Amino acid sequence: MSEKPVCISDYEQQAKIILPKAVFDYYFSGADEQETLADNVAAFSRWKLYPRVLRDVSRVDLSVSVLGQQLSMPVCVAATAMQRMAHPAGETATAKACRSSGTGMMLSSWATSSIEEVAQNAPDGVRWLQLYIYKDRELTKSLVKRAESAGYKGIFVTVDTPYLGRRRNDVRNRFKLTPHLKMANFESPDLAFSSKESYKEDSGLAVYVTQAIDPTLKWEDIVWLKKLTTLPVVVKGILRVDDAREALKYGVDGIVVSNHGARQLDCVPATIDVLPEIVEAVGGKVEVFLDGGIRRGTDVLKALALGAKAVFIGRPILWGLACQGEKGVSEVLELLREELRLAVALVGCTTVKEIDKSIVRRSQFTSRI
Ligand SMILES: Cc1cc2nc3c(=O)[nH]c(=O)nc-3n(C[C@H](O)[C@H](O)[C@H](O)COP(=O)(O)O)c2cc1C
Repeated sequence: MSEKPVCISDYEQQAKIILPKAVFDYYFSGADEQETLADNVAAFSRWKLYPRVLRDVSRVDLSVSVLGQQLSMPVCVAATAMQRMAHPAGETATAKACRSSGTGMMLSSWATSSIEEVAQNAPDGVRWLQLYIYKDRELTKSLVKRAESAGYKGIFVTVDTPYLGRRRNDVRNRFKLTPHLKMANFESPDLAFSSKESYKEDSGLAVYVTQAIDPTLKWEDIVWLKKLTTLPVVVKGILRVDDAREALKYGVDGIVVSNHGARQLDCVPATIDVLPEIVEAVGGKVEVFLDGGIRRGTDVLKALALGAKAVFIGRPILWGLACQGEKGVSEVLELLREELRLAVALVGCTTVKEIDKSIVRRSQFTSRI
């Protein structure tokens, strides 16, 4: 690698050089015209910080509790599928880096390292399983049970993917998993997405989702899931106040305000813009998290000020992984920690609890051009 990256976009640029085009495209892409992909990032700039001064910020404590687990900072790792395309150690490297940083990792159902393998590589790390509900409910149940046995601390059920969003470059590239890899949680080649069969003129993953994932999912299925496990169940992919209220009614333990990194439906709002109304509707009854477009410490700070308990980051971890495996993921996490620590101090806070709504406001200024 040439110069040491100093911000997340430096890692992204390096990763773009390192990764095969189809892999970078799969990791980077949003759905359709990618309006929301750009807006997830741009929206943070529409919120301005209002620092307090003269408040002794010589010590800053970023620690936080998430679903009952103590973490060193409110920046966790979101589920991103198929990490061995970025680096041979894939999800095991990410898990080790999260463990060293004292933060939590959400493992994708579609990981290229199994639930058990990841657990063995970071036995005392905080790990959660991201769950896709398959048409085959016994298979789905077995994923939950395996996560329980392997010491995972919660189930994040993805609720925004009855079908896969249309990611144009994946269609153009006829995206498939790199031949020597497979989705490691599944035995059969079809479910492991490693089948040699041709996926015709489409993204192979889109075809896979249509074949395997249950599009009939309804709120009642959350009850079914909750009955399967004693672990906390969090719904990932909420963008509306009424859905947040519905989630409370069905007894979820947490909500991730997420648009799936803008990869599902295009033209939906940036997550930071809908966070305040969802936090208000939830009224502190369960923990609310946010993901989508977090690239800077100030982004994390804004999300916390608007009521998120913690944030999850997706793509930046893949860029770190592509650049330098476990070391790269650690660097990305430590970079965000340092940016957040500085931002928290500069707004005049010393703990995450002190961060409140008063430090952030939607920008009132419009362009005169
Ligand atoms: C390459 C990639 C793969 C993803 N795979 C999954 C997945 O398997 N399950 C899931 O629920 N979300 C998945 N997501 C969405 C992330 O969990 C998260 O919502 C999103 O990446 C956050 O946005 P960010 O990448 O801007 O941080 C994926 C995102 C990316 C970029």
